[in-house]
Amino acid sequence: MMFANLKTTVGKEMFWRHALGTALVAQGLGHELGVKGAEEIYLAGLLHDVGILVNGVLFAEEFGDVLEEAKQKKVPVEEVEKSILGFSHAESGRILAELWRLPVDLSEVIEYHCQPQDQKPPSDITLLVHTADLTCQKLGLGYGYELASDDASSLTRIWEPLCVRFPMAQAFNEETYNHLLIHLVSEADILADHVFTPTMATKRDVHCDSHSR
Ligand SMILES: [Fe+2]
Ligand SMILES: [Fe+2]
Repeated sequence: MMFANLKTTVGKEMFWRHALGTALVAQGLGHELGVKGAEEIYLAGLLHDVGILVNGVLFAEEFGDVLEEAKQKKVPVEEVEKSILGFSHAESGRILAELWRLPVDLSEVIEYHCQPQDQKPPSDITLLVHTADLTCQKLGLGYGYELASDDASSLTRIWEPLCVRFPMAQAFNEETYNHLLIHLVSEADILADHVFTPTMATKRDVHCDSHSR
């Protein structure tokens, strides 16, 4: 697996659960809102935070402080990265994306996923990944803490920008989009459990096998 032999201050399982969650929620949103390109949306969601790995590997000590402060303040990581590191994971992610020669569309999602308004104009995929990212961080599939609800992370403020871009988003009311977002995250959570706890399943299977013989 990517970065498997490198030490990072971010738990690998936590990182990939958030990546998988963001990928699935973004893809689910794209489906609901009639956006084409399900594979591209999924891949962008999966790789959006690759800069977190870069920062966690190359600046392990400082990034440990970043995570600690973000957790205490319940704010997104990028809000603290700037003051401690001087740059965000979106910036280091973009550099890695270019080194890897990822497609430009994908590199731009990585660069702008924290602040889609800086992309001129924001792409559909950037908006979906941004929304899915915040939703996951708000509903327990983030980096070990939930964002405070008094900032821009409430589900209403997460949903509203979608209505400007995607006409189909306007058909949802507060109850239906809350339901959709919670449903998408819980489905992703179940799949993440399935993906990240194979050892438990294997142990159970072995145990059952030994009893059935
Ligand atoms: Fe991010
Ligand atoms: Fe993220």
